[in-house]
Amino acid sequence: MTPNVRPLVAGNWKMNGTRASLDQIKAIAEGVKTPLSEKVEALICPPATLLYVATALCDDSPLLIGAQDCHQNKSGPHTGDISGEMIADCFGTHVIVGHSERRTDHAETDHLVRAKAEAAYEAGLTAIICVGETADERRAGQTLDILKRQLSSSVPASATAASTVIAYEPVWAIGTGVTPTLEDVEKAHAFMRAELVSRFGSDGRKMRILYGGSVKPSNAGELMGIDNVDGALIGGASLKASDFLAIYRVYEQLLA
Ligand code: PGA
Repeated sequence: MTPNVRPLVAGNWKMNGTRASLDQIKAIAEGVKTPLSEKVEALICPPATLLYVATALCDDSPLLIGAQDCHQNKSGPHTGDISGEMIADCFGTHVIVGHSERRTDHAETDHLVRAKAEAAYEAGLTAIICVGETADERRAGQTLDILKRQLSSSVPASATAASTVIAYEPVWAIGTGVTPTLEDVEKAHAFMRAELVSRFGSDGRKMRILYGGSVKPSNAGELMGIDNVDGALIGGASLKASDFLAIYRVYEQLLA
């Protein structure tokens, strides 16, 4: 955790979820109606098909709803894409950009990710910008070099602590059940904090840095307790309300 920074527990549903899954969003929306929500934000990013209905389910809940990607342009001939404006129009508040699955599946570059983050700001959304090394890069001892490059090239110069959340997701930890050691997470987050502070000053000190990659109820307490880890980006375990809420509630202990 970082002093005076409000953690964010975010779920990324990826290409999972049909209308039947709205029950899980309802349960999460109910489950986060606790005093803890004043101290910890909760966000679910369902597929775009569910965005508008999902936000309607959160009318009387502190649960926030976001999207998983946006196009860098506002509108136009881009079949299959959605814009930041469309997400905001559905009452979405956040958008994930630069997830490693998009960097791989759609050959997204740091430059494109930065343009998408700028488009998110323009639409009034908070951008969750993902960074993280592959297994090969880690083996080659390049983890911090990769993080430095991705942070400097994917995070816009106009980023602020309010408009931007960084998510550190080691690619090899995503969906594998394997996580880095707590020492390695601490080292990576401390490194990223120093980079953000040197570039953004006091905003860099307050910018949230989430950890993502195989976060589950059983490891969330120790991961979220690490210095400079300001929340989680959760894939698989966010699909089930009970697991997501169990992760959210680790902050009851951590903030007690
Ligand atoms: P996971 O995914 O929690 O299933 O590992 C995390 C992510 O890709 O955001």
